[in-house]
Amino acid sequence: MALLDVSGVTLRYKTSSAVVTATERVSFTVDKSDRFVLLGPSGCGKSTLLKAVGGYMRPSEGRMTIGDREIHGPGADRMMIFQEFDQLLPWKSVLANVMFPLLTARKLSRRDAEAKARAYIEKVGLTRVVDAYPHTLSGGMKQRVAIARGMAMEPDILLMDEPFAALDALTRRTCQDELLQLWSETKFTVLFVTHSIAEAIRIGNRILLLSPHPGRVKAEVIDVDKVSNEDGSAGRLEKEIHDLLFAGEATGH
Ligand SMILES: Nc1ncnc2c1ncn2[C@@H]1O[C@H](COP(=O)(O)OP(=O)(O)O)[C@@H](O)[C@H]1O
Ligand SMILES: [Mg+2]
Repeated sequence: MALLDVSGVTLRYKTSSAVVTATERVSFTVDKSDRFVLLGPSGCGKSTLLKAVGGYMRPSEGRMTIGDREIHGPGADRMMIFQEFDQLLPWKSVLANVMFPLLTARKLSRRDAEAKARAYIEKVGLTRVVDAYPHTLSGGMKQRVAIARGMAMEPDILLMDEPFAALDALTRRTCQDELLQLWSETKFTVLFVTHSIAEAIRIGNRILLLSPHPGRVKAEVIDVDKVSNEDGSAGRLEKEIHDLLFAGEATGH
């Protein structure tokens, strides 16, 4: 059985003047230990889908289950990591930020929460700034703290919404490598959103392509591991995905 089952999910925003269909009947399943990527251009409903899986938005059609539980609201079994660098609490140190949800969940004593927080801060290589405050950290370091905070909760699935998109290219690359390194240690499950084809291929073992207005599934899920074990295959796959995403569209020339 899949860990996450998103089945025929339509998500709409109702504003005072209009109804926007962000995604229409989107279905996919994520297995345990998948690095599952939602890939598509801006406006195809990636963030909306992630919000819904996070329990912050109810579908107008379809259903979502995690394990055998229907998703009705937010839960500690799903931790979200965003693109923005301001997702940390500015008045708390790195350690206190990572401890915060552990304490709020009330499952651990303060001492156990601190030990767990320190262990995850070490995993992301930030032990030397454990007592620092967010405003003293670089963007990449802030994202590492957010990742440590999410992972320390040991959720069933990590939800990552373009977590590296606002970083410079070199830092982004390092953060991608570190995420993969962490994954190889603990084989956590991640649902990762990006609009970058190259990032999708680097991060994902499976990729779902979405098209915009309204957000729909564009092609079958791509099994990256099956195609990317030969030389030069990443480049070929990148072109293939580009063609799938933009099939049927005028080139503008
Ligand atoms: N709060 C909102 N109110 C109304 N429409 C929204 C809101 N958030 C997103 N949308 C619309 O929903 C669609 C999908 O947006 P989004 O999920 O942010 O896409 P993506 O993350 O793929 O760029 C877009 O057409 C967007 O304009
Ligand atoms: Mg988005």
